[in-house]
Amino acid sequence: ALLLRLLLIHGLSLPLASSRTTVHRAQFPPSFLFGTATSSFQIEGAYLQGNKSLSNWDVFSHIPGKIEDGSNADVTDNHYNLFMEDIELMCDLGVDAYRFSISWSRVLPKGRFGEVNSEGIEFYNNLIDALLVKGIKPFVTLNHYDIPQLLEDRYGGWLSSEIQLDFGYFAQVCFEAFGDRVTYWTTFNEPNVFIYDGYVVGTYPPGRCSYPFGNCSYGDSALEPYIATHNLVLSHATAAQIYRKNYQEKQGGMIGIVISAAWYEPYSDTPADRLAVQRALAFDFAWFVDPFVYGDYPPEMRQIVGSRLPTFSAEERNKLDAKLDFIGINHYTTKYAKDCMFSPCTSPYSLGEAFVYVTGEKDGVYIGERTAMSDFFIVPRGIEGIVTYVKERYNNTPMFITENGYAQFAGPIDDSLNDTKRIEYHEGYLAVLSEVVRKGADVRGYFIWSLLDNFEWLHGYLVRFGLHYVDFQTLKRTPKWSATWCKEFLSEGNNTR
Ligand code: NOJ
Repeated sequence: ALLLRLLLIHGLSLPLASSRTTVHRAQFPPSFLFGTATSSFQIEGAYLQGNKSLSNWDVFSHIPGKIEDGSNADVTDNHYNLFMEDIELMCDLGVDAYRFSISWSRVLPKGRFGEVNSEGIEFYNNLIDALLVKGIKPFVTLNHYDIPQLLEDRYGGWLSSEIQLDFGYFAQVCFEAFGDRVTYWTTFNEPNVFIYDGYVVGTYPPGRCSYPFGNCSYGDSALEPYIATHNLVLSHATAAQIYRKNYQEKQGGMIGIVISAAWYEPYSDTPADRLAVQRALAFDFAWFVDPFVYGDYPPEMRQIVGSRLPTFSAEERNKLDAKLDFIGINHYTTKYAKDCMFSPCTSPYSLGEAFVYVTGEKDGVYIGERTAMSDFFIVPRGIEGIVTYVKERYNNTPMFITENGYAQFAGPIDDSLNDTKRIEYHEGYLAVLSEVVRKGADVRGYFIWSLLDNFEWLHGYLVRFGLHYVDFQTLKRTPKWSATWCKEFLSEGNNTR
C-alpha cells in the first residue's frame, strides 16, 4: 500500500526493485512514542529577537572559518516565528511526541545574574500549548549544546563549578514555568559530543584542546575534559534533585539524559580489539551515565586516567542519587574500534585516552553504506548492539531512541525530495529495533532527526537531515518522500488519528 501511494504521489520514478524490509507500527507496543526531534539553535533563528542574549554558538559560528559553508544560524528555519506552521507539519505526520530544546539564552539571557526573560517564557508556553492542542506530547531538552556566552566569559563555562548553580537555576525556572504541561525532561543532549569537541579536539566552542590528543593550541593539560564533565555530571544531578524534591510528585514526569551512542565492533576478532570496544564504549558513553547508576566513573576509565579523573565527595554522591528515570540514545552509526594499547597504532587515537583507533573502514571496505556525514555509516544491526549494551550495563533502565536519522548532501530540491535512502534507513533501523524491544529491552519511544532540514553545526547547511525540505532563501517547507512514508507508517493500524 505504501509503495502504491508513493507511486501515485510521486510518479513512476520510484525504483520498483527496492529490497526494502517493511516494518509496521503494530510491531511496537501500543504505548510506544513516535516523534520528530529538533534543537533550538539549529531551527529557531531570531538570534537577536525577543530579548535573547548571544549563546556560545552564536558567537562561535560568527568566527570566520569555523563553519564549513561560512554560514550561521542567525535565521536558519526561523522556527521562532514559524512554529505554528511546523506544528501543522507534525500534525500532518501524525506524531505522538515532539522533542525540542529550550534556548538557555532566551529564557535567562544573563544566566542567574539577571531577570527571567518573559518573552522567552512566552515563546515556549505558546509552543507547548499549541502542541498539546494537537495532541502532541512535548519532550523537552534543557540543553542542546548552546549556553549563554556570558557564562563562558564570566567564569569559563563548564570548566567552573559555578555552572552547576546556573544550570540548576535554569532547570528550576523551566520546571516551574512548563512542568505543569511537560512530563518528559532531559537535562543534556550529547554531552559526550560537546565536551569531546569543545575540550579534547577543540572543534566546537570553547575550542579548547587537551594535549596530546588535539591539534589546536590553547588547551593547557589533559585535565580539562574531565573537569568539564565533572561539572556537567553534577549539573545534571543538581537539576534532577530539584525536580525530584519539588516537582516530580505533583507534575508526574520523568527526567533523564541523552547521549550520543555510536555502536562499536571489533576491528578484528581478537581479545585486544574486543577490549578496545569496551574502552571505546566506556570513554564515549558510560563516562556520562555510570555516575548516575553506580555513583562513579567507569572502572575502564579509572584504570587508565587514574587520579586525573575526579572523584565524588560524599555530598556529591548524595546528589548523584537523584538517578535517571530514562536514558536517551542518539544512534546514527556503527564503527570499528581497533586496539592501540597492546599494539601501537600509527593513526591518531580517537576518544581521548581510550587507546583506541576508531574507523569506519577496513581493507578498503566500509562497515556500512556511507552517508553525507563522513563518519556515519548505515548499519541497522548497530541499534541492537547499543540498546543491548545499555540494557545490560544499566539493568534495563527505560530507554528512548531520542535520535536516529539519515544525512543527505544539500542539492537541488527535486533530488532532495526523492529521499528513498532515508526511508530505507528508517525502515532498516526500526525493523531491528522492534526485534530488540520484543526481546525485552525497555525502549519506549523513537524520534526521527529531524522534522526539518536545519543548521547542521560545523557543516552549516551542506548536510540535510529533514523529513521536510527547507528552502533557506524563502523558508518554504516541502515534505520529502520520507515524510509521506512516515505519515503512512504512523497511521497504519491506528484509527485514533
Ligand atoms: C546529534 C545532535 O544532537 C544533533 O544536534 C545533530 O544535528 C545530529 N546528531 C546530526 O548530526
